[in-house]
Amino acid sequence: MPEHFHLNTPLLESTSMSKLVGTSVYLKMESSQPSGSFKIRGIGHLCQQVPSSGNAGMAAAYVARKMGLPATIVIPSSSPPLVVQRLQDQGATVKIAGKVWDDANAEALRLTETEGLTYVPPFDHPLLWEGHASVITEVAACLGPSVKPGAVLVSVGGGGLLCGVVQGLKQVGWADVPIVAMETVGADCFNAALKAGKVVTLDDITRWEVKGIEMFSLFFLRSSILALIFETV
Ligand SMILES: Cc1ncc(COP(=O)(O)O)c(C=O)c1O
Repeated sequence: MPEHFHLNTPLLESTSMSKLVGTSVYLKMESSQPSGSFKIRGIGHLCQQVPSSGNAGMAAAYVARKMGLPATIVIPSSSPPLVVQRLQDQGATVKIAGKVWDDANAEALRLTETEGLTYVPPFDHPLLWEGHASVITEVAACLGPSVKPGAVLVSVGGGGLLCGVVQGLKQVGWADVPIVAMETVGADCFNAALKAGKVVTLDDITRWEVKGIEMFSLFFLRSSILALIFETV
């Protein structure tokens, strides 16, 4: 069993973004992970500890294949056909349940009850956050002790990456570094919850058509990259 499934990804300075904001911007290239996103950090970590939509599914399918375990990935019918294909290419069984994430999640939970499968959550588990925290410990190791970011920019879906980043910042002594959390318009549940001061459920997420395929806001969030901004000296 490998020590972990994720790679130490490059930390690249973006000249165009640095020019745009007038200070150094570094990008952590999580898109170069074997499963295509940071999700492998948390899901790999969780799968190693636990006996045994999209990017989370890919990470789970990849890790299961590497561990020699069968994986069933439950996704909603709104998922693009390419996602289904890529999951199947990883050797996973794909089950389509309902229209949105909640429906697929309910079905995954039902399968754990009825078929004794182990549930791998996509964002809501302390072991995932512990795994995702490695994105920050890697950055700190790469930058060295004398450099500290002025801010970290992170995209939010279910909030797992954000929790991992918070944890990682604490681990490396950067708890005072501000985090800018970004969500996609139309799928901004974190923003709505903060405004309401409690957990809220969005009525729906925005959807529109691209080349005849109905797309949901959530799919446009994904750059798979974490940005770090540095104060100018
Ligand atoms: C590339 C990418 N960035 C960010 C996110 C948001 O992550 P989380 O759901 O942990 O908030 C996701 C979620 O799938 C993602 O795939």
